[in-house]
Formats: sequence, C-alpha cells, structure tokens
Amino acid sequence: MADIEVSLADGVQIIRFTRPAKKNAFTSAMYAVIADALDQGDADPAVAAHVFLGSGGMFSAGNDIGDFLATSRGAGGLGQEVERFIRSLPLVAKPMIAGVDGPAVGVGTTLLFHCDLVYATPNAVFSTPFLDLGLVPEAGSSLLMPMRMGYARAFEMLVLGDTFSVEQAREAGFVNAIVGAELLEATVMKVGRRLAQKPPEALIQARRLMRGETGLVLERIDQEVVAFRDRLASPEAEEAFRAFFEKRKPDFAGARARTSTG
Ligand code: COA
Repeated sequence: MADIEVSLADGVQIIRFTRPAKKNAFTSAMYAVIADALDQGDADPAVAAHVFLGSGGMFSAGNDIGDFLATSRGAGGLGQEVERFIRSLPLVAKPMIAGVDGPAVGVGTTLLFHCDLVYATPNAVFSTPFLDLGLVPEAGSSLLMPMRMGYARAFEMLVLGDTFSVEQAREAGFVNAIVGAELLEATVMKVGRRLAQKPPEALIQARRLMRGETGLVLERIDQEVVAFRDRLASPEAEEAFRAFFEKRKPDFAGARARTSTG
C-alpha cells in the first residue's frame, strides 16, 4: 500500500509511514496494513523484530483528523481498524523498535510506549494533544505513560498538551538515545540485527516477562475506547477538528453553549 511500506531486511521487518502530503497521519487503511504486518511478522520465523520509521522528516501526525471528523458525525467510535490496531499493540510478541525523526503526534507518540527501543533525532518532538482536541488518551497511554515517565510528566503531556523535546523525552525515559538524522536508520537496523542474533524463543519470553502488564493494558484500552467514543461525538471535539482544518484556534465556549442548549 502506498502510504505504508513494509519490507524485510536481516531479520528485521521495517514498517515505514509514507504519506508525506498529510504528514504521515494514519488513515483507517494504514492502521489495517500496520496491524496485518505486525501479525504476519510475529508469525514469520524470518522476522526477529519490528521497526517503525517515518519519512520526509516526519514520524507521524497521528490519527487523520478528517477521519475523526467523519466518525464524530457518523456511526461514532474510533473505527474498526483503529481499534484492531490499538488492541493488537499489547499482544505483539516480538520486540518493536522505533526511529523517530520530526514530530510524533498523538498515536505517533503513544505507539512508542509499546516499543522496546526508541531512537530519535534532534528534530524529534513528541506531543499527545488529545485533551485539546476534546478527546481522551488512547492506546493504553493513560496507563503506560504515567507508569513509564511518572504521573507528573505524563500529566504535562496528556493533559496540558505540552510538547516534549527529544532531550526531555530521553530524560523522561522513553527515548533510548539521540542520533543524527543521517544515522537514524543505520542505528535502528543495527540494534534490530543484534536482536535477530538472539535465541528467538528466549527473546520472546524475556520480552513477555518484562511487559507483564498486558492484561491491564488491554483492560485500560477498553475503558479508553468507551470514553474516546463518547468524546468523538462531543461538540468540543467537532469544534476542535473543524478549527484544525480552518487553521484557527478552537472556540470551546461556543461548543459549551451548544451542549447546554442541546
Ligand atoms: N490529519 C489530517 N490531516 C493532517 C494531519 C492530521 N492529523 N496533520 C497534518 N495534516 C495535513 C494538514 O491538514 C495539511 O493538509 P493541506 O496541505 O491539505 O492543508 C498537511 O497535512 C500539512 O500539514 P501542516 O499543518 O500544514 O504542516 P506543518 O508542518 O505546519 O505542521 C504538524 C505539522 C504535524 C505539527 C501539524 O500538521 C499538526 O499539528 N497536525 C495535527 C496533529 C494532531 O493533532 N493529530 C491528532 C492527534 S490525536
């Protein structure tokens, strides 16, 4: 598929986001391709690890806001493929590595908390502006982010909507190392090849033990999905999505007035 490229090299499955015109924002079809690739890579003995990479100086602008707007007006919910992708993340068996260059927004950042190794360039910036879009955290991030970086820093990202620089992300413990953009792919491939040399069953079991909270994450994802569905249908979210496309600041006072008058 044009917007996602999946390839295999040296025991490493590379999943590359290639939708530059829309800053690698994820559509329903892209989620489906990524979820299928993770399933197939897990089942393929030739794959030892999965790697996520962006393109064009961008990791991902997160969920396609046009899709959000369409679902907020239509049947509601995140959409079948988004939910399948999100629920598949805690169940992935093989290590996931991310190479981040440029902005990682929304699910572009929450995905990283399911990864085992994250390398990022000085241009990488991380943000999870769910609240400012009238939404709630997703992909298990309401559990995984406070667990990994502490409640105080997670609140800054998830509620205040602060953007973290690559240095802040490394300090917060979700970026392993900062590497120059020209070295990013070589770095993730090098560590991927190292994983491919490990005893495969021991690798999977060690990872499963270390990520022991799978059941809890799935439970939290279910709770998030319910809240997210509710928020997507809210006047606040609709106002935020419209404001994004109209390139203006959202007016939540107006959204509140519409809510109170029904
Ligand atoms: N969904 C749909 N389209 C998106 C998008 C998204 N998440 N992010 C960017 N785009 C589109 C823009 O609408 C624009 O389309 P256009 O050229 O047809 O007008 C194009 O991609 C380029 O985006 P632009 O905002 O002009 O690029 P930028 O370099 O100035 O800023 C970002 C890049 C990622 C910082 C900015 O696009 C952004 O904040 N995007 C929204 C991120 C977001 O809130 N995601 C949802 C998280 S839950």
